[in-house]
Amino acid sequence: MKRMSLFTLATATTVCAIASISSSAGGTDDEASPIFGVRIPAGYRQWSLIAVSHEAGNLDELRGILGNAVAMKAFQDGTLPLPEGAIIAKVAWKQVSSLGDDAALGSMQAYVPGAPTTVQIMIKDSAKYAETGGWGFGRFIGGKPTDEAQHETCFPCHQANVKDHDFVFTRYAP
Ligand code: HEC
Repeated sequence: MKRMSLFTLATATTVCAIASISSSAGGTDDEASPIFGVRIPAGYRQWSLIAVSHEAGNLDELRGILGNAVAMKAFQDGTLPLPEGAIIAKVAWKQVSSLGDDAALGSMQAYVPGAPTTVQIMIKDSAKYAETGGWGFGRFIGGKPTDEAQHETCFPCHQANVKDHDFVFTRYAP
């Protein structure tokens, strides 16, 4: 498959960001994502940290990438592909200045999570999701799944960029 250009990636990401700006994420409503039928897993906010990321540009977000116990063990052991039952949750917030931190540090340099934007889920179930690399995808804003068009973009981008890493971008931060 043709690799996506950085521009395509940035554009697609921006479209998602615009769609997500007005609402908040983090709910645990029981609504499933289109195409995949993925729900926000109960208790995901208590999962362990795989890594963090910072997306500059229009998105301007901070993210925490969390894993359930199955995913954590695989990331720590470097197991690929990730085993059945692995779930990854990417939780994102707007990046905002921390005025209190800046005052303490004496310059504008501290950034912290602001309003929640999206919660994104990837669930490994090779039988159920055979056509998408064994992964089911879900993107949620304010606890509600986003539309079908957005869910059509998930696998193609992950496939085009990280096929050789079990379709997962995130690397474990030791
Ligand atoms: C234009 C490319 C692109 C599209 C489309 C895309 N992603 Fe991703 N995704 C990324 C990148 C890049 C990362 C790593 C950056 C980060 O974690 O902040 C990522 C990370 C993730 C992660 C954390 C695990 C990992 O692979 O690192 C999840 C979960 C995720 N995406 C879910 C989704 C879902 C659900 C959709 C569709 C609704 C989607 N993605 C659509 C590019 C994309």
